[in-house]
Amino acid sequence: MRLLENGYTVKDLGLENINGLASLHKSAFTRGWEAHDFAQFVQDRQMKLLGAFKNGGREPSAFLLVRQVEDEAEVISIAVGRTHRRRGIGVGLLDAAIDELSESGVKELHLEVDGQNNAAVELYKNMGFEVVGERRAYYPGGHGKTAANALMMCLHLDDY
Ligand SMILES: CC(C)(COP(=O)(O)OP(=O)(O)OC[C@H]1O[C@@H](n2cnc3c(N)ncnc32)[C@H](O)[C@@H]1OP(=O)(O)O)[C@@H](O)C(=O)NCCC(=O)NCCS
Repeated sequence: MRLLENGYTVKDLGLENINGLASLHKSAFTRGWEAHDFAQFVQDRQMKLLGAFKNGGREPSAFLLVRQVEDEAEVISIAVGRTHRRRGIGVGLLDAAIDELSESGVKELHLEVDGQNNAAVELYKNMGFEVVGERRAYYPGGHGKTAANALMMCLHLDDY
């Protein structure tokens, strides 16, 4: 458990949180994950699922899902509830995960992000992630949106 400067608490999530996580995920992404998807993540030993809670809150205001395989890890998903954004929670969750991953011997943290997702790209760049590759037109367009490139980003935890 870690208390962030903004008053939110970061802690590991469990089966008791899967319904709140599904609601949060649906509010942030067009293709939402269901509670049973989160139940699988909670029980998967390669996955780390962290949540941020507002003081006294019972449902997570944000979550981060990371998968570790030996000395590498990947950010699978991160979402902060709309009314909780721009308060340092995204940074706080990544920071807490990076400390835990470093302690368990992880050297590199990878992720893939929609190049048009300005908030996420800025968050990762601010934390020191570097663009190491690009997949052209990886995310389909539609509804007036052009297809977006996927950026592959990496953070070397020794440098963090
Ligand atoms: C991306 C996301 C996780 C950021 O979470 P957050 O808690 O609001 O981010 P933080 O408050 O920790 O922001 C840290 C820094 O990231 C950058 N940032 C965050 N949101 C931003 C925005 N909307 N526009 C530009 N930069 C932004 C800023 O540099 C910010 O620092 P600052 O507030 O001091 O300027 C959040 O916007 C979100 O949940 N988006 C929807 C889901 C999503 O797109 N997930 C990423 C999938 S890869």
